[in-house]
Amino acid sequence: MIIYKAKDYQDMSRKAANIISAQVIMKPNCVLGLATGSSPIGTYEQLVEWYNKGDLDFSKVTSINLDEYKGLGPDNEQSYRYFMDTHLFNHVNINKSRTFVPDGLAQDTEKACAEYNQIIAQAGGIDLQLLGLGSNGHIGFNEPGAVFEQETHCVDLTESTIEANKRFFSRIEDVPRQAYSMGIKSIMQAKKILVIVSGESKANALKQALHGPITPALPASILQLHNDVTFVADEAAMSLLD
Ligand code: F6R
Repeated sequence: MIIYKAKDYQDMSRKAANIISAQVIMKPNCVLGLATGSSPIGTYEQLVEWYNKGDLDFSKVTSINLDEYKGLGPDNEQSYRYFMDTHLFNHVNINKSRTFVPDGLAQDTEKACAEYNQIIAQAGGIDLQLLGLGSNGHIGFNEPGAVFEQETHCVDLTESTIEANKRFFSRIEDVPRQAYSMGIKSIMQAKKILVIVSGESKANALKQALHGPITPALPASILQLHNDVTFVADEAAMSLLD
């Protein structure tokens, strides 16, 4: 496990974008596992900047996102598909038909999950999976108590996650109660994992993820068992580490 200490959010974003760029340069037809939320916005901004300078080419890249709210379609501004389009896909030369986000409007949940697992398998697996960290230790939408053996599945969101995500919605009642998420098993099968962590609110989760017991009570703790994981965390997130 490699842990990079970043000064602040911007420094974290630049370091993370460097690692993703290296992946795209070394393997132009790579499969990137991508995340949404506050953590990767700066990373995507940096990637777009380097793309505009002519330093990056996404034309052969496939992307597979971690999760999507159940019930939200691509036109909904709170959907993760919309997030990915506006923060990254619309600004680089990625082939949109090679960008995958779970279908929030799928009626048949089991079928939708099976199809998403199929997409990952057909792409040949994920080369580099980008993750944010929930302040309760979740990764993707794998909440505390999640089963480590799961692939893509439909999850009931915890109150703490609904609370944390309400900032993006006008009313808490609008926050979806369920989401599609890659499971811990899908995440652990990625060849490389990059976790970005910023802010004091993540400090305890980061400490537990790195040094606590490996337990479903803190889903990110499973990452201790992955053989190629890199954390990039800023000083505030690392404030509880010795
Ligand atoms: C997003 C995702 C979530 C977030 C996590 C941290 O696709 O899977 O696990 O990475 O909730 O969110 P932020 O970055 O908003 O603090």
